[in-house]
Amino acid sequence: MTNSIYEKLAESKKYAALCPDTLRRVAEDCARRYKKPKEAEKAARETLHGITGAFMRPEELKRAEERLKAGDMEGALEMHASTRERKPLGAFYEALFARAGRPGRVLDVACGLNPIYLAAMGISVIGVDIAGGQIEMMNRWASAGGYPMEARLGDALCPGFLPEGPFDLTLAMKLLPVLENQKKGAAAALIEGLPSEKAAVTFPTRTLSGRGVGMERHYSQWFEGLLPEKWAIFDRYVQNDELIYLIQRNGGGTDHGEAVCGGHAHR
Ligand SMILES: C[S@@+](CC[C@H](N)C(=O)[O-])C[C@H]1O[C@@H](n2cnc3c(N)ncnc32)[C@H](O)[C@@H]1O
Repeated sequence: MTNSIYEKLAESKKYAALCPDTLRRVAEDCARRYKKPKEAEKAARETLHGITGAFMRPEELKRAEERLKAGDMEGALEMHASTRERKPLGAFYEALFARAGRPGRVLDVACGLNPIYLAAMGISVIGVDIAGGQIEMMNRWASAGGYPMEARLGDALCPGFLPEGPFDLTLAMKLLPVLENQKKGAAAALIEGLPSEKAAVTFPTRTLSGRGVGMERHYSQWFEGLLPEKWAIFDRYVQNDELIYLIQRNGGGTDHGEAVCGGHAHR
């Protein structure tokens, strides 16, 4: 049953561009959980919609590319829900780099459209995401303009998705809850294996519809509880509606502040 679900998803207009590893993983999972093929396929489509549908629609991707071509970068990045919430992007990165140091080479896991902004700042960036349409669009933009950016199709829940390091900084922005919803334990496993000494891990403090009751506290407790022992938090702050943790590997010093707590410790 897995193969037939996979093929239907891969042929469908909505999911053809998604990472094939994701289609196979979701098809396998739903084939295991449902006896009837129709029900399994319906569940697979619903799962995929939940993973990708909320952040950017096809018409928004098209508008983003048009705006980029017209030189309107902020307008283009507004088309993705996550970068829209982070406006103004200049202030976001100014604060981040003041605290973590300006990186030369960045890995952006589940990047959305974010690598565009970094590459335009002259930072070398590899972005990985399951959203194939966004990946292709960003690569067209980077190669047309000669920007130091490469976007790759990859599923953070599948082996071998991490590009070869080292990187000065890994970004895992608004990702961990999305990942943990797909597989229990995935958030800690991802952090454990990051190919850099430092990482910025962020969480929304409001839902896409604007509600935010208790989200900052909830994600703080959850993240500090799951942080592997080999990582320590060296900064934490909230900017606009985003909670930002800066972490470093234990033993890896930083010029930007002392580590304030290790995995399973407190603020
Ligand atoms: C909330 S958005 C955050 C985008 C970006 N990190 C940002 O903050 O601007 C979540 C992103 O995770 C991606 N995603 C979801 N599941 C994924 C997975 N298993 N592996 C890699 N990327 C995934 C989605 O396609 C989407 O771009």
